Amino acid sequence: MIYIGVMGHGTVGSGVVEILHKNRGTIAQRAGDELVVKRILDLKTFDVPYMEIFTKNADDLLEDRDIDIIVETMGGINPAYEFTKRALNSGKHVITSNKELVAQHGAELLAIARENNVNYLFEASVGGGIPIIRPLKQCLAANQISEIYGILNGTTNYILTRMKRAGLSFEEALEEAKEKGYAEQDPTADIKGYDAGRKIAILSSIAFEGHVPYTGVYTEGIDDISHIDMLYAEEMEYSIKLIARARKYDNGIFAMVSPMLISNFSPLADVEDVFNAIMVKGDAIGDVMFYGQGAGKLPTASAVVGDVIDAAKHLNGTKKEPDGNGTVMNVLSIDDYESKLFMRLKAKDIDGLRSKALEVFEGAKLISIDDPGAMDEVAIVTPPITEGDVENLLSSLSSGVEDFEFIKSIRME
Ligand code: HSE
Repeated sequence: MIYIGVMGHGTVGSGVVEILHKNRGTIAQRAGDELVVKRILDLKTFDVPYMEIFTKNADDLLEDRDIDIIVETMGGINPAYEFTKRALNSGKHVITSNKELVAQHGAELLAIARENNVNYLFEASVGGGIPIIRPLKQCLAANQISEIYGILNGTTNYILTRMKRAGLSFEEALEEAKEKGYAEQDPTADIKGYDAGRKIAILSSIAFEGHVPYTGVYTEGIDDISHIDMLYAEEMEYSIKLIARARKYDNGIFAMVSPMLISNFSPLADVEDVFNAIMVKGDAIGDVMFYGQGAGKLPTASAVVGDVIDAAKHLNGTKKEPDGNGTVMNVLSIDDYESKLFMRLKAKDIDGLRSKALEVFEGAKLISIDDPGAMDEVAIVTPPITEGDVENLLSSLSSGVEDFEFIKSIRME
């Protein structure tokens, strides 16, 4: 029998207990032994049939020598960081869904796990139930990975889907996402792109075999996307998605999260609601796409339990996996990133602005929609330009133009 301690009986933690109980027979066969939840740490009180195994004292798990595997589903940095270190240092394997902790302290916690000959596994920290971390480490290990990109946040994908499909404003779609339990009461990390930024930092650290600090990921959120932007996207046969991207170059890694206009012919445009999709580009495999439920109780718990089974099968030692040997990757500035830009501009003399925009952004295309909200503006799609050049081009465009206003730009694939 292998004993497990669960830290945090929230959405994911309770899902882990549920799956371990419901599928205990097949899980025992696959793990080679029976897996039993011995203690659950949570400060709240729950009215569940297994009430007697709850404790409010972390020592009841961390100092219990019978417990070999700790599931950390508390979320956040404190106290999860200290508890994880204590668990690893006392020779327990730790499985987590905690992307904040993995993005911030993953490299250190992996090193502590290695020193103590145990495993620190975090499949559930990216893409909820979608297998992506183990495929990157194992199934795609033959490849040189050059790029990872995709939709890594379910909440924002739900909001953008509802704005597109139901014509909702950003605020209305966010409210609906909260009512359905997708968005947190404080949705900042999702809508500002920080959550996707942490996830792309975790994935690129694995794919590029060196620590990519999440603080180096350039991040823009979706809170400025409007109904008018959605109408322009529809006119161009594009969809607006929050895209996370990391690319490897000879001199470092480029990583960003931002709203992007994606052609409706791209498979990413069809990824709707809370689903996630992650594309990986390898030199042998070409493009491969991972798709599924990126959040939610049972999908995320499915990934956690998969790791628990893996840890149970490797109870006597750390799995040998690439870890980058402590290398910290050079994260490149966004200034060199090149893409087409969809741009909305305003000025007193609309006809003059239109001709000047086409002159300054040579090769740009005009886009127009028949909507009262877009009557007094000019919209263009520029040819590919680097971020570092945009400011200069806009300053040439605005000079001498009365009441010039740069409304916004959105990067285009
Ligand atoms: N808030 C996250 C999302 C949960 O919406 O994708 C899963 O990491």
